Amino acid sequence: MKKLHVSASREYDIIIGSGLIKSVKEILGQCTSARKFMIVSDDNVFPLYGKTLISELLSDGKSVYSHVIPHGESSKSPKHYIELLDALAENRFDRSDCIIALGGGVVGDLSGFAAATYKRGLELVQMPTTLLAAVDASVGGKTAINLKQGKNLAGCFYQPNAVIIDTDTLATLPDKEYTGGCAEVIKYGMIADKELLSLTASVPVKSDYEDFIFRCADIKRGFIERDERDTGCRMLLNFGHTLGHSFEKLSSYTLPHGFAVAVGMAYITRAAFKMGFCQSETLYALLDALEACRLPKHIDYPSSDIALCAMNDKKEVAGEINLIVPIEIGKCEILKVPTSELIIWVKAGEADA
Ligand code: NAD
Ligand code: GLY
Repeated sequence: MKKLHVSASREYDIIIGSGLIKSVKEILGQCTSARKFMIVSDDNVFPLYGKTLISELLSDGKSVYSHVIPHGESSKSPKHYIELLDALAENRFDRSDCIIALGGGVVGDLSGFAAATYKRGLELVQMPTTLLAAVDASVGGKTAINLKQGKNLAGCFYQPNAVIIDTDTLATLPDKEYTGGCAEVIKYGMIADKELLSLTASVPVKSDYEDFIFRCADIKRGFIERDERDTGCRMLLNFGHTLGHSFEKLSSYTLPHGFAVAVGMAYITRAAFKMGFCQSETLYALLDALEACRLPKHIDYPSSDIALCAMNDKKEVAGEINLIVPIEIGKCEILKVPTSELIIWVKAGEADA
């Protein structure tokens, strides 16, 4: 078992290890005095792990309720948000009670937003069950739901009481979800940890989940402690995401997030190399890691469509966009680029035939 402590607007621990669901009583005892719990999960994860979690809580004399949502991004919606608030109100939850988010980033983001807003704030424990949620979504307090106009448009920062990552739950993760999560691990290597990047190219992340997740969560902890509200260095976590979001959109969201981020990282690093921001060693280290994790490095969309899509992204401010550009392995910088110049970056990012 490994543990990290996050010093943000709320202090909390991230606990990573095997079999943690079965020792959840002891961990919860140290991070919340709640006696009543709402387990929020989805219809894939709840049948796998819900029963064990409930019986652990019941054996500790807690009151336990559960709220199961359909799996998938469409559950991060106003409708499912209101249904969750209704379930809390119908069961008379108050501010001393606790939500446990048992699932991937969809469950985590929805539960977090409900916990932040129901009666102005409930206790919240994140129990991520996807690699992506373990290394990214469960840590750092970003909560959100989607509106019909776009992703994550309603949300707030709300740090949890604890993040409990039982690595055993990742054993049932479908291949596609595992591979997508590996893209985020590679991202951490590229922005902050040269050794981590080379590890992703040489050993499978699943061969030592505890160590890989610990390293990623520790890097994210550092960014959150320096920039909780995402106005400075936390933006480095968006490496590969600016163009990644365009690829997701152009594929009508059929391309999984992690795969889109992988291609986004490849484009921006090829462009950075061609424009003299980094050496070829940085580019080839990234491409090797993507190859080893069976992630894509190119996609066939016209450059003009990719650039237009990125220009229309909500992150554009006063005609400029922040691009996260690699300087060397383990080091990226935030570069303000006029949106009119994005096309140059996209063209330079294309793989040579
Ligand atoms: P997800 O929650 O949709 O989970 C992916 C799929 O895996 C689902 O079908 C789920 O039912 C299934 N699943 C989850 N755990 C499983 C397990 N252990 N065994 C079997 N099946 C399992 O997707 P995700 O990739 O975890 O998260 C994506 C969401 O996270 C997006 O909405 C994204 O916006 C959000 N996100 C948030 C942050 C943040 O900082 N808050 C960061 C990154 C992503
Ligand atoms: N997923 C990026 C962040 O939490 O800032």
